[in-house]
Amino acid sequence: MNQKAERVAVCPGSYDPVTNGHLDIITRASHIFDRVVVGVVNQPIRKKKTLFTADERISFIEEATAHLGNVEVQAFYTLLVEFARDNGAQAIVKGLRAISDFEYENEMAQLNSKLDSEIESFYVFARPEYSFLSSTGVKEMATFNGDVGDLVPAPVAAALADRLGRD
Ligand code: PNS
Repeated sequence: MNQKAERVAVCPGSYDPVTNGHLDIITRASHIFDRVVVGVVNQPIRKKKTLFTADERISFIEEATAHLGNVEVQAFYTLLVEFARDNGAQAIVKGLRAISDFEYENEMAQLNSKLDSEIESFYVFARPEYSFLSSTGVKEMATFNGDVGDLVPAPVAAALADRLGRD
């Protein structure tokens, strides 16, 4: 019998915290690939200290993706291509919101391809309703007690209000 290889994608990010835009990309990837491994970078190199610990960021995503049977969440501490290889993934899937994302993502895709040309980077266009949405923007809104209820899962909104909201 001709057995088809399992198609596995990794969806990497800082996810500090996960937004509904991230969850839309993960969900859409889960419809195309047999298995999706969400990779939560332990300590992002190009960013300041994260607001939430890796364990917290992982829990938020696990809770929000529990209904998707082919999605799992892991922390990673290595090069992304190593994390992909360790999980038997052939693809990196990321969202692309606007032209402003393009330059950085183009650099990332080229660097990752140089490190391992067997692993393809695929970019999924953000839906219009999420094209303005970022973890940074959500944190700024929460700092000034703005309503982020439509932008992140309810447990994330509560945690943001708890950690950042002003009395
Ligand atoms: O959500 P982010 O912060 O845009 O995610 C960035 C991430 C985690 C995708 C990126 O920093 C990454 O891939 N880090 C692991 C190190 C690595 O492999 N870098 C790219 C090649 S040098």
